[in-house]
Amino acid sequence: MYRGYDISYLAEKKTFLDTAYLLLNKSLPTEEELAQFDLEMKKRSFVHEGMKKLFDSFPDNAHPMAILSAGVSALSTFYFDHLDIDTPEEYMEMANRIVAKIPTIAAFSYRYSQGLPIIYPDLKKGFTENFLYMLRGYPHHHIDLKQIEVKALDTIFTLHADHEQNASTTTVRNIASTHAHPYAAISGGIGALWGRAHGGANESVIRQLEMIGSVDRVDEFIARAKDKDDPFRLMGFGHRVYKNFDPRATTLKKIRNELMGQLNIDSELVEVANKIEKIALEDDYFISRGLYPNIDFYSGLILQALKIPKEMFAVIFVIGRTPGWIAQWIELKEQPTIKIARPRQLYLGPDDRTPKK
Ligand code: ACO
Repeated sequence: MYRGYDISYLAEKKTFLDTAYLLLNKSLPTEEELAQFDLEMKKRSFVHEGMKKLFDSFPDNAHPMAILSAGVSALSTFYFDHLDIDTPEEYMEMANRIVAKIPTIAAFSYRYSQGLPIIYPDLKKGFTENFLYMLRGYPHHHIDLKQIEVKALDTIFTLHADHEQNASTTTVRNIASTHAHPYAAISGGIGALWGRAHGGANESVIRQLEMIGSVDRVDEFIARAKDKDDPFRLMGFGHRVYKNFDPRATTLKKIRNELMGQLNIDSELVEVANKIEKIALEDDYFISRGLYPNIDFYSGLILQALKIPKEMFAVIFVIGRTPGWIAQWIELKEQPTIKIARPRQLYLGPDDRTPKK
C-alpha cells in the first residue's frame, strides 16, 4: 500500500506520475493537478549545461550507477539553498526538481558510459516515454515506442516507488537526519541500492538465466537449488518479508505476459524462465519454504524485453524509488525537531587495555 492505496490499483489504473504525486503530496492528484505536475516535470527535466563537463570526465564504460550517484550529488552544487528551506512550497521545489531530473541524468549516465550522443528531453512526451526515448533514441530520429512498452516500464516505476525501511531508504533518512543536502541523501541512497543484494537482484536474475542457457539444463539447476550442500540459489525466488507471494510480482507477471505477447518475444531465455517458474510453482521444496517468484524475477525479464541493458536495471529502480526517498525526506523535515540518526553499537571487543602507568 502507498498512503492507503493498493499498489495493484495504482499500477493498473494510475500512472507513475500519479503515484509520485501521491507520495510527495499525500493525496492523488485531480485531473488539473496532474496536468500541472506533468508540466512541472517537463519544464524541470533539463539539467544545467555545466553538468555535461562532469559527465565528460568519467572514463568509458564507467558504471551508470556510479555516474548517476555522482551526477545527483553534483546537482547539490547548483541548488545549494537547502539550509534555508522551511516551507512546504520550498520542500516541493526541491522534490519536484529531483524527480524531474533523475530520468535525464540516468539516461545521460548510460549514453556517456557508451560514448553515445546524448538525447535531450522531448517536451511532447510523457515522463516514462521520454525516459525510454532518451535511453534508446537517436538525435533527430523518430522512435517508434509501443504503448505496452511504456506501460510496462511505468508499472515497474510505480511498483518500486517506496518499500518501508529497506537499506537504501534507511541510508537516505540517516544522511538527511544530519540536515545534509537532500540530493546528497539521494546520492547516498543510490550507492546503497547499487549492490546485488538490493537494486542489483534483477540483473542477477538475467545473468543466471543466461548462465543456465537452455531448457535442457533447467532440471540440473533446480536440483542444485534444492541441494543443501550446494550454495547455488535460484535468483528471483524468495523474499525476506513475503512468504506466500510478492504482491508486486503478481502485477508484474500480468504485464510481462502482455508485453511478451504483443512484442512476440519467444527467446530461449524466456523459455528457460518459463520452465523454472513452472517447476518452482509446483515443487514441494519451493512451496513448503514459501519461495515464489519475486518482483526481480519479472522485472528482469521485462527490462530485457524492453532492450534495456543489464547495467541500467538498478538505475531504473532509482528512477522509481526517488519519489519514495524524497517523500521520506519531507516527512523528516515536517517533524518539529529532526533527531540525528544514531544506531546503538554493541561493543564486543576487549575491555580497557590502556597501560595504567
Ligand atoms: N533458491 C533455493 N532455495 C532458497 C532460495 C532460493 N532462491 N531462497 C531461500 N531458499 C531456501 C533456503 O536454503 C532455506 O532452506 P532450508 O530451510 O532448507 O535451510 C529456506 O529457503 C529459507 O531461506 P532463508 O535464506 O532463511 O530466507 P530469507 O528470508 O532469509 O531470504 C532471500 C530471502 C534473501 C530473498 C532468499 O530467498 C534469496 O536468496 N533469494 C534469491 C535472491 C533474490 O531473488 N533476491 C531478491 C529478493 S527481492 C528484493 O530484494 C526486492
